[in-house]
Amino acid sequence: MGALLALMSLHMAAELPIDGSEKTEYRGNAKKYQSRTLLAFRLELGNVSQVNCDALSFSPSDVYEYLQKFGLTAAGGRLGPVGVPGLLLAGGINFYGNQVSFGCDTVVNYEIVLADSSIVEVNKTSYSDLFWALKGGSSNFGIVTRFDLQTIKSPKACAGAHTLSSKYINEFLAAAATYASDIYDPKTHIVPTLTAGETTLTTMILLYDGDSISYPDIFKPFTDIPAISSTFDFKTVAEFTAETGAMVIDGIKYNPPEAH
Ligand SMILES: *[C@@H]1O[C@H](CO)[C@@H](O)[C@H](O)[C@H]1NC(C)=O
Ligand SMILES: *[C@@H]1O[C@H](CO)[C@@H](O)[C@H](O)[C@H]1NC(C)=O
Repeated sequence: MGALLALMSLHMAAELPIDGSEKTEYRGNAKKYQSRTLLAFRLELGNVSQVNCDALSFSPSDVYEYLQKFGLTAAGGRLGPVGVPGLLLAGGINFYGNQVSFGCDTVVNYEIVLADSSIVEVNKTSYSDLFWALKGGSSNFGIVTRFDLQTIKSPKACAGAHTLSSKYINEFLAAAATYASDIYDPKTHIVPTLTAGETTLTTMILLYDGDSISYPDIFKPFTDIPAISSTFDFKTVAEFTAETGAMVIDGIKYNPPEAH
């Protein structure tokens, strides 16, 4: 598996921008959605309290699948296909944010190539000012070639996409507002979306960390609204990011308007 990934990394490296940013768009979304995630990795077998990710590869799914065998996951991208150091360097919204904060907060060490071409390890005790700056300071401090992330214990989550008809938009917005004003349960994460089109659809991506509670109280305002379809069920983060990944249109790039 390691050798295969290394080859893929070489191939992908030629196609990725140097900051590793990758632009994606949700299927059916009227608005273009730009995201920058990272994740590729060098497996450190035998010690999974931490996972080491090579910057130039392509998919968080590989990291999640590997970690899942140990009942672990990481604070990486929420969609399988988005690749990218940009997510971790710019912050990193992730499914576990209410427990571990941004993805960048779980990075314990960076390997970075500096402007003078030296390669250094950056962490709490080595270049600590740069360690601080890389946690959200984005990609201009050098080229990060490896991220060492703390892992998160989470064998399964109850997660899915809950899709509602537009006649429930008011209930949907009220439920989102109620959730946002009092996130009393940190095991939760939501992604509310309204998709404009011939028929406006509202989709709520819900995730609840844990393998025993299927309909937590904090999600009741959403789950009480009748759904057109719902995939809410127990699954691993690897399975869920494959599912959310299917909502992304392959190879679509965000093209900013041309300057005049
Ligand atoms: C795993 O790695 C962490 C961080 O480098 C280290 O503190 C810990 O001792 C290691 N555990 C084992 C079992 O090697
Ligand atoms: C921090 O960097 C030093 C090298 O300067 C390295 O020896 C040490 O293992 C690093 N710490 C972590 C947590 O990676």
